[in-house]
Amino acid sequence: MAGVIQIKDIAAHEGQEVTLRGWVYNRTGKGRLQFILLRDGSGQAQCVAFKKEMDPDEFEIVRSLTQESSVIISGAVRADERAPGIPGGYEIGINKLELVQEAQEYPITPKEHGTEFLMNHRHLWVRSNRQWAILRIRATIIKAMRDWLDDQGFLLVDTPIITPAAGEETTTLFEVDYFGENAFLAQTGQLYNEANIMAFGKVYCFGPTFRAEKSKTRRHLIEFWMLEPEIAFCSLEELMDIEEGMVCYVVAQVLEKRQQELDIIERDRDKLKAITPPFARISYDDAVARLQALHAQIDDPAAKEELAIEWGEDFGSPHETALAEMFDKPVFVYHYPTAVKAFYMTPVKGRSEVCRSVDLLAPEGYGEIIGGSERIHDEQLLAANIDEMGLGREAYQWYLDLRKFGTVPHAGFGIGIERTVAWICGLNHVRETIPYARLLNRKYP
Ligand code: 4AD
Ligand code: MG
Repeated sequence: MAGVIQIKDIAAHEGQEVTLRGWVYNRTGKGRLQFILLRDGSGQAQCVAFKKEMDPDEFEIVRSLTQESSVIISGAVRADERAPGIPGGYEIGINKLELVQEAQEYPITPKEHGTEFLMNHRHLWVRSNRQWAILRIRATIIKAMRDWLDDQGFLLVDTPIITPAAGEETTTLFEVDYFGENAFLAQTGQLYNEANIMAFGKVYCFGPTFRAEKSKTRRHLIEFWMLEPEIAFCSLEELMDIEEGMVCYVVAQVLEKRQQELDIIERDRDKLKAITPPFARISYDDAVARLQALHAQIDDPAAKEELAIEWGEDFGSPHETALAEMFDKPVFVYHYPTAVKAFYMTPVKGRSEVCRSVDLLAPEGYGEIIGGSERIHDEQLLAANIDEMGLGREAYQWYLDLRKFGTVPHAGFGIGIERTVAWICGLNHVRETIPYARLLNRKYP
């Protein structure tokens, strides 16, 4: 058997005999000439079976190959610019074919399927071109975030999934029976990051987080992945610089490393090429004023009602979408009302009704992809907030300890992977951005 290669490397093997192992994405042809579009996970290549160049029994197998049958194919690589594939431009002249398994009738055919049907068959749908491309872009986004942080001197420090207390707020907690005691699935790794920066200076955690939110919007997952950097001696302004630097690097990496995937999903590259520093920074006060001005111009009653906002209210999806649409780059909105944000955020000096928080809203209407803030580093103030929210001090004793032993001003943020992938890929729902989505009405497959 000729040497096994990956289809992504096919160009380097022009003129050579090679072996490919994979699955039949499609088969066409008539009589003596058959075309197999073979995918092997790394790409797709057209493999041509010509009756007189093959063993007759093997050729008969080719003629009856069903979609997604697994096969091992050997043959010569030749350049042909018409040959379809990923990357395309090369094909294999088959001289040997081994059937590993003949697939049963495959439920996902080239015809259109409804989203619910596809989500029910997600375990098979991940093989389709679009899904393949999106999940490869997701992997590149995660790698780029981590590479950027690693290069900036951040240390990856893992945080626990099972936690004794709420990290964000109590209404969206998933309870776990911990040998007869109550525990929760992590909503965030942030509180542990705050302990870890006192040991390592700049850290990040990356892992799954859970929100038992009864929300069905296109931005919500019950289980989502979050990357959370935390930095000692950091201000809100410095935090925005870090977010801006990281996001621009991530987009640039996707543009550089995932060109064929962006082609497959037909993403408008100019929108991504525009993502360069600086991003606009506007206050919550300013954002409300802009929304109110927009609201005054709208005639359609339904749209008008959706966009109504009073100072002090949190933004809903329609507000974020409208704000994000006012800019062609991500926009920072800072100093939100203290009442709508988490218990650990520092109040603004002399104006405690707003806090040192910042959200980053993605353009094209995507809205919040990052939430961050300066954390309260004063023990008394933090303890008072914990009491006021009825969180119960015992579970937070270790967190309060951090404010006793060399407390320092610090800040951090969390970036939602799925919302970032949805924006960069231009998708209208987060369900396709994660391999197996957990939604309000879905935990299968
Ligand atoms: O704004 P959030 O809730 O912030 C935190 O959890 C902080 N502890 C982060 C930190 O400062 N270390 O969540 C941060 C991001 C959001 O901007 C959003 O991108 C994503 O996580 N996110 C969700 N993504 C999908 N589904 C959900 N239900 C999400 N909730 C938050
Ligand atoms: Mg948030």
